[in-house]
Amino acid sequence: MRLDGKIALITGAARGQGAAAARRFAAEGAKVMLTDVLDDQGKELAAELGAEYCHLDVSDEDGWAEAVAVTISTFGDITVLVNNAGILHFSALAETTLADYQRVIGINQVGTFLGMRAVVESMTRAGGGSIVNVSSVEGLGGMPYLVAYTASKFAIRGMTKVAAMELGQHGIRVNSVHPGAINTPMVGEALGRPIDISPIGKKVALRRVGQPDDVANVVLFLASDESAYCSGAEFVVDGGATATHALS
Ligand SMILES: NC(=O)c1ccc[n+]([C@@H]2O[C@H](COP(=O)([O-])OP(=O)(O)OC[C@H]3O[C@@H](n4cnc5c(N)ncnc54)[C@H](O)[C@@H]3O)[C@@H](O)[C@H]2O)c1
Repeated sequence: MRLDGKIALITGAARGQGAAAARRFAAEGAKVMLTDVLDDQGKELAAELGAEYCHLDVSDEDGWAEAVAVTISTFGDITVLVNNAGILHFSALAETTLADYQRVIGINQVGTFLGMRAVVESMTRAGGGSIVNVSSVEGLGGMPYLVAYTASKFAIRGMTKVAAMELGQHGIRVNSVHPGAINTPMVGEALGRPIDISPIGKKVALRRVGQPDDVANVVLFLASDESAYCSGAEFVVDGGATATHALS
């Protein structure tokens, strides 16, 4: 199996893309620690997969120390970290409150920083590993009404490269994944009502929105030794959304 012997911690794993990654990882032989703030959903999925669950708010520094310690004591040193948890907030730049800006940055950006920092010691002890940071196409280009989200996702793309440069000597690879429009509850949650995002799919080369498994398969590749020579790189999973520009 492609992840035999791997010990993985995934954030935001109770649903959406994180849940899809957890399913793929478990099916490919990894020992998986699912983490999230949605404890009931997370525990249920972990039980279904024969995996484990631990509560983790990624913006909480002490929470990271605890989640890493629990993972190590349950399975051993961590060899895969997927920084997947994230939130979206729509508002015009002029109307974005500092509290909303900081909330998005605190989860998406600070959460990714804290996560990478928290696993360095364990991964180094293990002789290496793979960190997968979930950014977005908003980490490659700007999107109106998403100032905090876009800032956080550009930051993730940048810090991925710094981490790759620093940690390569320990056998730790660090890459970013840039999904386009993916069919998960995220947009509906940000808008406060369920929404059908499938019309957005008509705009991209592949003429459909993505499914969580489209992203999970790329995350799986990056977690596995198949990507042994990939580090500091950007992996776009957007159906061709960023293949063109606004003038096309
Ligand atoms: N859905 C898309 O179109 C899309 C596109 C590009 C990037 N992304 C990114 O993909 C990642 C996964 O999103 P998704 O689409 O699966 O959305 P989702 O809302 O279904 O899943 C996000 C998960 O993160 C968890 N989460 C939220 N705040 C948290 C916190 N403080 N601590 C820990 N967990 C927390 C949620 O409970 C949820 O389980 C996010 O980083 C998101 O920004 C999504």
